Amino acid sequence: MIGPKHVAIIMDGNGRWGLKKKNSRNLGHKKGIIRVEEIIKQSIKKKIKFLTLYTFSSDNWKRPKIETNFLFTLLENYIDKEFNNLKKKNIKIKILGDIDKFPPSLKIKLRKVEKNTNYNTLIQINLALNYGSRQELVNAFKIISIKKKRIITEKLISDNLYTKNIPDPEILIRTGNTNRLSNFLLWQINYTEIFFVKKLWPDFGKNDFNIILNKFNKIKRNFGAI
Ligand code: IPE
Ligand code: IPE
Ligand code: MG
Repeated sequence: MIGPKHVAIIMDGNGRWGLKKKNSRNLGHKKGIIRVEEIIKQSIKKKIKFLTLYTFSSDNWKRPKIETNFLFTLLENYIDKEFNNLKKKNIKIKILGDIDKFPPSLKIKLRKVEKNTNYNTLIQINLALNYGSRQELVNAFKIISIKKKRIITEKLISDNLYTKNIPDPEILIRTGNTNRLSNFLLWQINYTEIFFVKKLWPDFGKNDFNIILNKFNKIKRNFGAI
């Protein structure tokens, strides 16, 4: 059985988890990072080649500054802690989105980790940061029009998205008991199998992940044929 090459995840529910536990949304974000590490490990075990994590959406700026700053600090601490490990473990990090408006020190570290892990081959972790799918498409159309391309093809559009050279995901998981896409990978998920999970992200573990992978393996994917 050939498993999926690319799994994308909308890691939703951190805030509610933290509120329920200790009346602190940020606690949920902290616990969420531990789950990220667990799911990366499991993805490697399952020989998944691309794991895309919706980490900060272009609409998440609407949250209070105290929360966005906490998220940026968490991410920066994670990079500080894992910088050498990622390289050693042969993990490639790629950023999807426009991180220009991120705090300067975080931006520098993100660029550095991307550059430093560029030739790694075990797995590619795509971090969707300040990512919005419509913005990604608008950006692609702008590039295409600047290049004065007259023949528009699906490949031309795909090649001008942040996800250039990344195969479309076979699986999209959204945790947090919410059945929507929130502006995530709208072009790329045309034939993706979507799994909406009730559990909040900090409660989503490797067993839940395995259950989805097993379900996926039993699905007959038609792509319009029979
Ligand atoms: C997802 O969890 C993480 C980010 C958006 C960074 P939320 O923070 O959206 O958690 P809920 O949905 O409010 O519980
Ligand atoms: C989607 O979750 C973004 C991330 C998980 C990073 P949101 O919590 O921002 O989505 P909405 O606002 O509920 O649609
Ligand atoms: Mg949410």
